[in-house]
Amino acid sequence: MCGIVGYIGQQSAATLLLEGLKTLEYRGYDSAGIALAPGDGAFRVTRASGKLVNLQGRLDPRDPATLGIGHTRWATHGRPTEENAHPHRSGDGKVVAVHNGIFENFLELRKELQDKGESFLSETDTEAFPVMVSHLLKGGVTFTEAFRQALGRMEGIYAIACLHADDPNRILAARSGPPLVIGLGEGENFLASDVVPLLRHTRRVIFLEDGDLAELTRNGVRIFDLQGKELHRPIQNIPYDPVAAEKGGFKHFMQKEIFEQPQAISNTLLNRLPIEASEPIPLELPFTDEDLKSLQRIHIVACGTSWHAGLVGKFLIEQLARTAVEVDYASEYRYREPVIPEGTLIIGITQSGETADTLAAMKEAASRGARTLAICNVLGSTATRTAEATILTHAGPEIGVASTKAFTTQLAVLTLLALRIGEAKGTVDPKLRAELLQGLRELPAHLEHISALEPRIIQWAQRWRDASDFLYLGRGPLYPIALEGALKLKEISYIHAEGYPAGEMKHGPIALIDKDLPVVALMPKDSHREKTLSNLQEAAARDGRILGLVTQGDRGLDGIAEDVLELPEVHPWLAPILYVLPLQLLSYHIAVLRGCDVDQPRNLAKSVTVE
Ligand code: M6R
Repeated sequence: MCGIVGYIGQQSAATLLLEGLKTLEYRGYDSAGIALAPGDGAFRVTRASGKLVNLQGRLDPRDPATLGIGHTRWATHGRPTEENAHPHRSGDGKVVAVHNGIFENFLELRKELQDKGESFLSETDTEAFPVMVSHLLKGGVTFTEAFRQALGRMEGIYAIACLHADDPNRILAARSGPPLVIGLGEGENFLASDVVPLLRHTRRVIFLEDGDLAELTRNGVRIFDLQGKELHRPIQNIPYDPVAAEKGGFKHFMQKEIFEQPQAISNTLLNRLPIEASEPIPLELPFTDEDLKSLQRIHIVACGTSWHAGLVGKFLIEQLARTAVEVDYASEYRYREPVIPEGTLIIGITQSGETADTLAAMKEAASRGARTLAICNVLGSTATRTAEATILTHAGPEIGVASTKAFTTQLAVLTLLALRIGEAKGTVDPKLRAELLQGLRELPAHLEHISALEPRIIQWAQRWRDASDFLYLGRGPLYPIALEGALKLKEISYIHAEGYPAGEMKHGPIALIDKDLPVVALMPKDSHREKTLSNLQEAAARDGRILGLVTQGDRGLDGIAEDVLELPEVHPWLAPILYVLPLQLLSYHIAVLRGCDVDQPRNLAKSVTVE
């Protein structure tokens, strides 16, 4: 959740660390701090509560120190105050550390260290670490040894970086859970929670594995296990264009990412659509046709928006591959002792590839014999490194905390996967397959067309910006899109919203309907249309204010809805990819009109690496 950066080299660390933190602010933004080691036996630690800009105002950009670590926080233990902001120091001021994760035994360690005369200044779990390192150093061991021994005392998960004022030529870092990446330079080296801050400086990176301890000096990087044995981790070249992680003229990352969806979908489909009708879908899977044929059951685990993608995936896989699919919240699955018969594939859907619950659920299933597949947007993330197979979504970096293009590309990948499994099992009708493939090819153009409807959606936003509740209704594969529309609105505008299957409305939510409740209705021309229409008539009869999304030319909501947007005609099973875009825009514009912080909504973080 939190963001970590580290630098050791020849340049001003203050400037580089601050730049790095700016690109990581999406990971947490309730306080931030930087520790610089000028090499005179002390640290200059600057911290501030609130957004990074508060820290920026306090830092001297001309500070000559060339070694430092920084942090942007998403509070777990202790309020988001300056005292609780990282870096944390030992009582003697000789050791500083930044940490992402949770030390579960910190109260016990704190008491033990206090009994030995050490003092604490914050409410955080993290502070136990530098205090422990400093305490061990007093026993005469080296910094590296003290760091290693302190890690051995910590229970929980961590990505951590640590400096010692009397040893100002190294950064020590370690990982067990949350990600940590090293960027390799010439006469300088970098450390960060993900690759984005590194890309301005280098494309050569090393992803630390759980249990790794890294030592960064100006001239090199060495990696050890916790017993001190040296390890060799591969250097990877990251292809991302750093410009893709900048706003490029848009007001917010979220807006840019919504508008990038035509391109993102094209990138996701590139080289994955068969040229000849007789060819199988060229998905980069290590599974043979026999493996796919023998799949008896699929479990999908995910959180938030990715879970909504999983619900659409269930619909597609069951229709096209006639294989039973269960979709679970990862946080529930991991603790419910799931029944995993032979022939089960677990699919973890995770944009970041770092969501702790999803990773744990996949691990749980793998330990019970399931084969594992990750659908992920981040190359080199934990999910892609631990799953047996990965399908990358190629959406490009998604910086806005509210997921948009990562979601639609997940849906595109799930369509291909459902077709691929269906092909292997012989359950896909060739005509239907051809129709879906053609539909996929047309998606980018349709998404462009829908993006151009933004002015109409702004009108909806203006009219409904002060509503206190919203209801979203859909059926079949559009039901998860109703859920997603409601989640987007909640996340960034803080308006209460519910998504429901349209047919379920009469079993409860109908009681909410009155002239003040906007009802966003998803009604493409599909086998559910007539039923959805009846449900909307029921809502209209109770004065519900319906905002409809329908297929081009459909006049069914005339006289019922307050306004209707007509969307291009596609195969109904691809409609989720189109119908979500106006909902993303609606949430975005309502949030902007309400003055909300769209890219960094309160209490949220992009990558949820804690339980
Ligand atoms: O990185 P993941 O896809 O695993 O993240 C899962 C959720 O935390 C994420 O989708 C969250 O719900 C977003 N804020 C949605 O916009």
